Amino acid sequence: MAGKDSATREASSRRGVTKGPPADERVQRQRRLFEEAAAVASEPQVKPLRHPIWTESKARLIQSYLKLFTFVTKHGTYIDAFAGPQQVGKPEMWSAKLVIDCEPRWLRHFHLFERNKDKVAQLRTLVHDHNRILEDAGGKARDLNVYEGDCNIEIPAALERSPIRDKEATFALLDQRTFECHWATVRALATHKRSGHKIELFYFLPNKWLPRSLAGLTKNPETAQRWWGRDDWKTLGSLTTRQRAERFTDRFKEEFSYASVKAWPISERTAGGGSVMYFMIHATDHPEAPILMRRAFEHAVDPTKPAEQLELVR
Ligand SMILES: C[S@@+](CC[C@H](N)C(=O)[O-])C[C@H]1O[C@@H](n2cnc3c(N)ncnc32)[C@H](O)[C@@H]1O
Repeated sequence: MAGKDSATREASSRRGVTKGPPADERVQRQRRLFEEAAAVASEPQVKPLRHPIWTESKARLIQSYLKLFTFVTKHGTYIDAFAGPQQVGKPEMWSAKLVIDCEPRWLRHFHLFERNKDKVAQLRTLVHDHNRILEDAGGKARDLNVYEGDCNIEIPAALERSPIRDKEATFALLDQRTFECHWATVRALATHKRSGHKIELFYFLPNKWLPRSLAGLTKNPETAQRWWGRDDWKTLGSLTTRQRAERFTDRFKEEFSYASVKAWPISERTAGGGSVMYFMIHATDHPEAPILMRRAFEHAVDPTKPAEQLELVR
């Protein structure tokens, strides 16, 4: 049949009655479609999540992921932009502590940022105690740094002072409460390396309370402007949960060209299963990273609860 179609096209063309776009336009269009399909195919697919992960398990998730990450890299740098503990007296929910405590100790460099003085003191105690443990055990020293101040100022300054090597596997946790992380800080991290895999990002995107928080910003719109980095932030409040997560994943992909960007849902623990409180957006260039994150979810979840509202975005 293909032969018959092409013979008909050829005859039509000889008669000067070609249908559709000219050949070179068709070729270009086909190339474009092929490239688009290749771009979609390059996003690694992972199996759907089977169980919800609750807010209190986030630190465990990050620890599990970094353990898997370092099994691959055998080295690495951890940046934590909002490193102080969220909950007083709950060290098991403190990401920076769980990551530092994680074994084997493949991660060698830590950059921990915090604005609150009391929490800076807790970070310094954490680092001091860890160094002591290493010393007592005769272990290799690690490069543990605590920075006091606004991460939106301190992170770009630290990157400028001591650039991260292009080959250094680096993971940055941007665990803000709502609007504290400026888009310029995300950009500084995402565009820091000149070649190789970009700094991997794990970015907190509030969901449940976001529309109300955005609506409450009418008196200080500059907060939203710095957070989103553009003046169309008002449109985010009227989107559905899925659309908003997609708006972020699309933006991380388009603006910074990450190979994979996925929005992982974290749920509220309630009797009925709970709704999505926030997403953790994972932007990475490493083809195995989304698969490792999926595995980390399996380690960190409470498997006794049913999978509800667990749709992973992208
Ligand atoms: C949501 S908590 C982080 C929770 C933490 N990742 C954990 O695992 O427990 C946010 C932290 O960031 C700090 N913070 C808020 N704004 C900041 C800023 N601009 N720069 C640095 N730290 C900030 C707060 O004092 C608080 O300790």
